[in-house]
Amino acid sequence: MAEKMQARRAWRDSKQALRQGFSVGVIAMNKKIMTISGGPRRDGCSEELLRRFTGKINAEFVHYDAYERNYAPCTDCRYCREQEGCSNDDMDGFFDDFEACDGIIIASPVYNLSFPSPMKAIIDRMQRYYSARFYLNKRPVIARRRPVALLLSAGSPEEDGEICARQLEQIFTVTNCELLCCVVVNGTDDADDSAFADDLESKIKFEADYFSDWASSITKSSLNP
Ligand SMILES: Cc1cc2nc3c(=O)[nH]c(=O)nc-3n(C[C@H](O)[C@H](O)[C@H](O)COP(=O)(O)O)c2cc1C
Repeated sequence: MAEKMQARRAWRDSKQALRQGFSVGVIAMNKKIMTISGGPRRDGCSEELLRRFTGKINAEFVHYDAYERNYAPCTDCRYCREQEGCSNDDMDGFFDDFEACDGIIIASPVYNLSFPSPMKAIIDRMQRYYSARFYLNKRPVIARRRPVALLLSAGSPEEDGEICARQLEQIFTVTNCELLCCVVVNGTDDADDSAFADDLESKIKFEADYFSDWASSITKSSLNP
């Protein structure tokens, strides 16, 4: 099992290095990771997933709770097509942290195949970066490449997170982020303690270690403009 994981990691590292031209292997500490909670339940499965995942990562965390923040939805006012930024300043602090962080972790339940609406509002408000790239011709919109981890909990045993992942990839392509790992916990509606059994724990650990290594190994010299 451990050998399989090592092999998978080595394969992914070499793929990443080849595709992105990154220099991997330089470990830098004091990385700042942005965490976003997409669900309303503080004692919910996605929060537990986030706690376990971040518990395995050596970094400083800046946390955002989508329901607590309750950001306004995008109104397609077209301001960001004319000027960089957003006409509504309620997310200014969020955008500052998003641009400055070294990696992003999103933990959310799946609601009707998608994210809960306050989380979806955050995603839609990222439209300002899409406009910066395609209307204002800013390239790159954000210079530093960053890893993203998506942690999902879903009632359905079949939910694979693909729709959520695709939504994120759409905005993260423009913002120079890479969806590095997606952990889905299924069958949570009938969950008891066994929902977080040993095999899940090892999966989280592997993904968390991989995410952490990747976030730590990106240095200024490995920028990918
Ligand atoms: C409004 C609503 C819609 C939901 N839609 C889905 C869905 O489409 N697919 C699914 O697998 N589970 C769905 N669920 C179940 C949740 O994803 C599941 O209970 C999840 O574990 C809740 O996360 P939490 O424990 O972090 O609150 C839905 C739950 C709610 C309340």
